[in-house]
Amino acid sequence: MEVLPCVQDKSSMDVKEFDETKAGVKGLVDSGTTKVPKFFIYPRETLEKYSAGIASDNIGLHVPLIDLEGFGSSRRKDIIYEIREACEKWGVFQLINHGVPVSVMDAMIAGARGFHEQPNEVKQELYSRDPTKMVKYFCNSDLFDREGPADWMDNLTFHFDAGKVDPAVLPHICRDAVTEYVGCMIELKKTLSEILSEALGLCSNYLATMECMENTPIRCNYYPACPEPALTLGSLKHTDPDFMTVVLQDNVGGLQVLHQNIWVDVSPVQKALVVNMGDLMQLITNDKFKSVEHRVLTRQIGPRVSIACFFYPHLTQLCKPIGPIRELLSNQPAIYRETNVQEYMAYFLSKETGTPSLPQFKVQQELAGQIE
Ligand code: OGA
Ligand code: NI
Repeated sequence: MEVLPCVQDKSSMDVKEFDETKAGVKGLVDSGTTKVPKFFIYPRETLEKYSAGIASDNIGLHVPLIDLEGFGSSRRKDIIYEIREACEKWGVFQLINHGVPVSVMDAMIAGARGFHEQPNEVKQELYSRDPTKMVKYFCNSDLFDREGPADWMDNLTFHFDAGKVDPAVLPHICRDAVTEYVGCMIELKKTLSEILSEALGLCSNYLATMECMENTPIRCNYYPACPEPALTLGSLKHTDPDFMTVVLQDNVGGLQVLHQNIWVDVSPVQKALVVNMGDLMQLITNDKFKSVEHRVLTRQIGPRVSIACFFYPHLTQLCKPIGPIRELLSNQPAIYRETNVQEYMAYFLSKETGTPSLPQFKVQQELAGQIE
């Protein structure tokens, strides 16, 4: 008797076959699969290596929650102090009363979710990993190059030319939402860059003058429910290579940050945005502000939707030299050598996912290279 393969068992599917469906992880889940395909499965040792850190039930540990209410008046000094503490000790904080209307946040989540939940024939037109495409949808940008397993998530990304959105290139389903959301991110960035400058003891327009956060690529992450959550991750432990990231998450949860070697949940807080420092911020602040390691767990419930807005300089500024801010070096030596965003990104993309990039740019590293 012929044994028919079980339709729901996709565990033997290979990467190429999967990619050709152009349906992402969501397509797998929709087809009723109960087994995670092998290329998403982390060997136990790898998972242990990259998830190093004790997973806590967060005994007394909470990501700082900062209320921007009163920044324009009485609470300005307190807010700057709280943000400085958060950036130095955690590299991440949740922010409320940040000025982004709840209606804009809800529409952005709904628009991103709506995109991923469209019929495959509609969204697959945007399926691509072409770096020159301003708008694209894909599952793991490094699906074929990655040494380790793939992340259990699909992405929709927007790159804007000089920070400007051309609405015509945006998918209809989230066009208005993205346009409004980006506008709000640019406004929020202005406030945050003032606060971060002052928190560093610099004049309030210091970071604005550096023009290091003028470009705002956006990534809409869609993490489908996972039938075997212990075998894979929504996003492997990483730091963001940018200056700063603002994340809007829905109420499902799963994002964690590594703090004092303990994985701490970034529990969804109503109307809040999560702000984390990136590698380049740690570099220019000479380790004063920390680029926080974070990851996303998979769940049997889902999907989870999050919107990450990354802050980078304009494309025309990618070769401009950047290094530790001089004013911060009066009583400590520079930990990092001068580099530029292009060089940093090239290294970030070339190294194994999950391993840090910053140590490569340390001054000692450079000296060690000369001695070799
Ligand atoms: C990212 C990221 C976190 C999240 O996109 O770099 O870390 O909550 N996202 O999805
Ligand atoms: Ni990240």
